[in-house]
Amino acid sequence: MMNADMTRWVEQTRLYVRQAMANAEPGHDWWHAERVCRLAMTLARSEPVDALVVQLAALLHDIADHKFHGGDETLGPRRASQFLVSLGVPDAVVSHVAAIVANISFKGGHATQTFRSPELDVVQDADRLDAMGAIGIARTFSFGGFARRELYNPDVPPALNQTPEQYKANRSHTINHFYEKLLLLKDRMNTPTAQRMAEQRHRFMEGFLEEFYREWEGV
Ligand code: ADP
Ligand code: NI
Repeated sequence: MMNADMTRWVEQTRLYVRQAMANAEPGHDWWHAERVCRLAMTLARSEPVDALVVQLAALLHDIADHKFHGGDETLGPRRASQFLVSLGVPDAVVSHVAAIVANISFKGGHATQTFRSPELDVVQDADRLDAMGAIGIARTFSFGGFARRELYNPDVPPALNQTPEQYKANRSHTINHFYEKLLLLKDRMNTPTAQRMAEQRHRFMEGFLEEFYREWEGV
């Protein structure tokens, strides 16, 4: 159960994230953190999790994304901890949230996850669901535009199972991101509720791709 202190910590974290991510790329801005928080709380209804940890971790999970911070993967967990300590959040909650922030990422499927908890499972599912479906498509083209990639290039075959180096160096077109990540997500869900939601979002992306290729050919 959440008491008044806990509710205040979540509200203050929301305000912090809102200003810290105000100028972020639209696919990784504060609204992504907010959607992940809402999705995680939906999933939390059928999982035995600590709602405080889930909400704080969901809000803070992209506070210093490695893609936008020179590849420093320790910055996110450090920033999250610093902020929560400044609020007076108990140490056990702070370290659990920091562990989730450090271990949530997909990174082309090559990230090694060194920590697991039911709370991480739920926040990770929520983050992955937000990369799928209509929102996932919108975010992907936002990032592609941000990185000035082509929408699509039929001469560049889909790149699968890349090494971390290839993934980083990959200057491929945006449609390729469906094959390197988005279409793989439905088989990576931790919880049954997320699994069901992922199937719906997956079908939507498959329909989108079919239509995209049809239109590309001028049919
Ligand atoms: P994670 O934090 O799990 O590693 P990312 O931050 O890499 O996930 O990806 C989050 C979202 O950003 C993706 O689902 C996608 O919408 C967008 N994105 C990331 N990398 C790319 C890319 N190479 N091309 C297009 N979109 C991308
Ligand atoms: Ni995220």
